[in-house]
Amino acid sequence: MARGDLILDVQKVHKRFASKGVVVKAVTDVSFTVNEGETIGIVGESGCGKTTLGRCIVRAYSASEGKVMYTTAEGKVVDFLKVDKKEMKKIRKEIQMIFQDPYSSLDPRMTVLDIIKEPLKANFPDMSNDEMNERCKDIAAKVGLNVAYLNRYPHAFSGGQRQRIGIARALVLNPRIIVCDEAVSALDVSVQAQVINLLNDLKKEFGLTYLFISHDLSVVEHISDKVGVMYLGRMVEYSKTEELFEKPMHPYTEALLSAVPVADPDYQMDRIPLQGEIPNPANPPKGCYFHERCRYCKKGLCDVEAPELKETPDGRLCACHRALELNLRGFKYEEGAKDKQKTE
Ligand SMILES: Nc1ncnc2c1ncn2[C@@H]1O[C@H](COP(=O)(O)OP(=O)(O)OP(=O)(O)O)[C@@H](O)[C@H]1O
Ligand SMILES: [Mg+2]
Repeated sequence: MARGDLILDVQKVHKRFASKGVVVKAVTDVSFTVNEGETIGIVGESGCGKTTLGRCIVRAYSASEGKVMYTTAEGKVVDFLKVDKKEMKKIRKEIQMIFQDPYSSLDPRMTVLDIIKEPLKANFPDMSNDEMNERCKDIAAKVGLNVAYLNRYPHAFSGGQRQRIGIARALVLNPRIIVCDEAVSALDVSVQAQVINLLNDLKKEFGLTYLFISHDLSVVEHISDKVGVMYLGRMVEYSKTEELFEKPMHPYTEALLSAVPVADPDYQMDRIPLQGEIPNPANPPKGCYFHERCRYCKKGLCDVEAPELKETPDGRLCACHRALELNLRGFKYEEGAKDKQKTE
């Protein structure tokens, strides 16, 4: 299998949580494809289903419906959500996840060495303890952890270091795909930059494919080749990063981009305030889930019929009845924009 070939084909994935008679539709009908070596950003407001989607893809949650067609290292295409125990054992190590919260995702009673070693023990029962320790130390050094401190417990590490422990734990199995769930969101900006650079270096060294879940659009723009935008459990747009930022197609993407802060106090951004609250995922609105907050909503169409995520003539994916006629613009801040604004 060569770099650039299809590695993941997510097809119509749904995840519903039921509790006390209420059904929350956390992920609804999400489809997209990923090529080997790509970094895919998944963005959207808090609660839109990013983590749930990531967890369904790595089978940490069992999806209610849908398929995740995965091309294995040997070139075989399997539905990762359906493979049996025996095959799962073989493939499990190829798809790993870095979990959202570096404070609660590490077991406080285990040393850092044991935390990194745990997946090796589960997946390589024949490997000797010395071999495992050696591999853990190698990986720990790669992600910038001090190997002399591996016998300490997670509480002795800072947020950035804990995030590196999570990365080392995911890497130790030599995976092909890593789902990074808000891998840098809990970190301060300088450490964020370090961890992003680390992820980029590791990607080059090991040829990794990332699904990079984040609510931070600037980080996603920096790191991703393509971006999927989620709203209330649905993917509403999936485009190449440059195209998405320069010319969003979905009104929700447009509003999201207009909210990105600009490091220039004199520049007046043309922000698009969204009306109303994000709807309840247990009781989503009829028609397009976004129509109640959309400034382009066409009564009788958008409030009645749910738009499908369809391919546009230029190969992007968008779920909006009016995507082609709207001709939306991006919000890219350019040097000199404030001077232009002053003269207008
Ligand atoms: N285990 C669960 N049981 C019931 N509901 C859940 C569960 N996990 C998530 N949800 C609900 O599913 C929806 C999506 O949650 P999810 O954590 O995937 O969002 P998110 O986009 O990752 O948000 P954030 O940006 O805050 O991390 C939310 O409405 C949430 O309340
Ligand atoms: Mg999340």
